[in-house]
Amino acid sequence: MSMMVNKGPGEESSRFFDSLRAILFYIVEFPERLHHRNETELLFPLVATRAAQTREAIAKVDLDHAKGESAVKELQHLLLGWEFMGEPRRQGFVDVFAQYLSLYREHMTLEETIILQAARQVLTPADWAELDTAFQSNRDALTGTHPVDAAYEQLFSRIAHIAPAHLGVCF
Ligand SMILES: [Fe+2]
Repeated sequence: MSMMVNKGPGEESSRFFDSLRAILFYIVEFPERLHHRNETELLFPLVATRAAQTREAIAKVDLDHAKGESAVKELQHLLLGWEFMGEPRRQGFVDVFAQYLSLYREHMTLEETIILQAARQVLTPADWAELDTAFQSNRDALTGTHPVDAAYEQLFSRIAHIAPAHLGVCF
């Protein structure tokens, strides 16, 4: 998505906007509503109980999760503005997208370097078995490492298919 936004619509305007709309829809449907909910409701409370040093980071990422869907919806609106109102609306989308991306990267760093590190040390095999069951019921097509729910696989396939040719998205 970042590569596409940097490059802009070029000669493939309708493909470009179709593709970004599909990606944002996917982000709301999968990471925001399913994956983040599993983290916030199942994984993080367990880690917070057993590893007090993670509580500050968990409070921060939980807050990000709470705001995530509305942040993506704002991007969806700004994208429609760019698509229907043209170039004068481009920068508005680009700026908010850059902010979203930077917050998302910070968010993933906190999860990966503090919370998941601690989880590896404090969770038991029984905890992991329970978490695996929950997370496996909605696997992310983007990882490419697990079989995925058919409905999301179709959506992801569609995103890959309509992505502008220069990105060479395939799987
Ligand atoms: Fe998260």
